[in-house]
Amino acid sequence: MPAQLIDGKEVAASILNELKVRIEKLQSKGITPGLAAVLIGDDPASATYVKAKAKACKKLGLYSEVIKEPATLTQEELVRIVHKLNEDDKIHGILVQSPLPEHIDELSVTLNIKPDKDVDGFHPFNVGMMLIGRPSLLPCTPHGIIKLLAYYNIDPSGKEVVVVGRSNIVGKPVAVMLAQKAEMANATVTIAHSRTKNLPEVTRRADILIAAIGSPQVIHADMVKEGAVVIDVGVNRVEDANTKKGYRLVGDVDFEECVEKASYITPVPGGVGPMTIAMLMSNTVTASETQNVFHKV
Ligand code: GUN
Repeated sequence: MPAQLIDGKEVAASILNELKVRIEKLQSKGITPGLAAVLIGDDPASATYVKAKAKACKKLGLYSEVIKEPATLTQEELVRIVHKLNEDDKIHGILVQSPLPEHIDELSVTLNIKPDKDVDGFHPFNVGMMLIGRPSLLPCTPHGIIKLLAYYNIDPSGKEVVVVGRSNIVGKPVAVMLAQKAEMANATVTIAHSRTKNLPEVTRRADILIAAIGSPQVIHADMVKEGAVVIDVGVNRVEDANTKKGYRLVGDVDFEECVEKASYITPVPGGVGPMTIAMLMSNTVTASETQNVFHKV
């Protein structure tokens, strides 16, 4: 029997719906949560993501600013923009869309974002808080994956989770979050990567397999245990002359093959993707609540 689809659009809609009460409460105090996205250069995928984030803000009634800058922007100019946003009371969340041009040092930019406005959860302060299991702004995609599992009552406790990919924004944080002594966690986690020996043997151990590699359709059915939950984080553009845009989106997982073997699987698009945006909205609301709790309530 083919796997049940994990519907990221449905879960994201439910999370956004739950946010409405919190947003109304803030608005009754004269506060509108605000998100600023800084977009540098003309990478079409980044432009699409930023547009989607701004649209989500508008739909929820959040304030949003998109700051577009050319790829020639200097490090100093970018840091100045970030500092201005740090001091702007209308803005509770700041994100600098990556990838950044090569001459810009991403870590140094992130370090200049006030941790309580770091709605990406990328600042080393928030990363450290997450690592020690303390409340913090959590990175959106990993947190979104946990919300997907929770919605479908898939409790990772005691399960074997294999995360393929060790990026700072998905692989490493999702592994840490799932290994945490906490609800919707307590998993036995393995991080596999490009140097892993005999990858199919490792991935076949997974009750929950999380593919965050960034290469199209590299997880095949022979790498998946019968009945496993497969979470596909990949968003890869592959050429397709039959589509209007000339490309289509595929995940890191060979969906057609793996859907026959998994118990649950996320599609691409419509799986993890919508969750990243929902959790960004959630972080923006949380950031707004935190920043206003002391001086405006
Ligand atoms: N580029 C790809 N994913 C992300 C993300 O979650 N946040 C930011 N800022 N840039 C990204």
